Amino acid sequence: MEEARMIELLVELHEGLDRLGPGDAQSTLRALRLCSELPPKPDILDIGCGTGAQTLTLAKNTDGKITATDLVPSLLSTVTERVAASGLQSRVTTQAADMNSLPFADGEFDLLWSEGALYIIGFDAGLATWRRLLEPGGYLVVSEASWFRPNPPDELAEFWAECYPGMRSVQGNAAAAKAMGWEVIATFHLPEAGWTEGYYAPLRERLTKFRRRHADDQEALGVAAMTEREMELFEAYSDYYGYAFYVLRRDQG
Ligand SMILES: C[S@@+](CC[C@H](N)C(=O)[O-])C[C@H]1O[C@@H](n2cnc3c(N)ncnc32)[C@H](O)[C@@H]1O
Repeated sequence: MEEARMIELLVELHEGLDRLGPGDAQSTLRALRLCSELPPKPDILDIGCGTGAQTLTLAKNTDGKITATDLVPSLLSTVTERVAASGLQSRVTTQAADMNSLPFADGEFDLLWSEGALYIIGFDAGLATWRRLLEPGGYLVVSEASWFRPNPPDELAEFWAECYPGMRSVQGNAAAAKAMGWEVIATFHLPEAGWTEGYYAPLRERLTKFRRRHADDQEALGVAAMTEREMELFEAYSDYYGYAFYVLRRDQG
């Protein structure tokens, strides 16, 4: 399937959901508090913001300016509506941008944030290419699918080898970040409810209608089947993997 068609189907399946991947506001806040030396009004870039769940949490819990970016303009419209509904429009703007070539100046931000989207560019590539956007001493916070235990069962290893071959252990990612010159302030696991309640429960409700709408569309049915398979595997094997937050800091220069 072409990438554009895949994105279109995934956007349709997820449109209007609070979040487009595993996460919860408490974990966003926990990571934010670990960035303890931010300036009083930090400039923040949210990369791959989706429908803006973490954007809103960041805006409500800082006095900073936030630029929320995503590749998909219709998602950014949802963010704009949500931001306006919360009265935060003076501090939050949206901008369509590809995370592979972000159109911002060197050192423009104090904090880069990306929940559940770094896998698109890849952990190492994201850390390498986004670094220039930070002030010296600035922070990068990402959440990323990561192995929590070695030797996963075959069916799980095969699924993730296909969906995200670059997935590493938390220790492996932390070591890679360190080797690239980042200070690893902290890592922590997203609680399971961030998958099951925050993401999978509302998504499951969508699947029935999505299937009905696309009864003759093999590509769409394939996306539905893959989504359901992902949920089944998480139910069976959530002790082997999950999302981890990485709170990283650029050297002081
Ligand atoms: C799994 S979602 C996570 C969204 C949001 N951060 C959340 O947790 O709800 C990944 C997001 O990355 C966006 N995306 C995909 N490719 C991208 C790219 N090349 N540049 C920027 N964003 C991209 C998708 O449109 C989607 O909104």
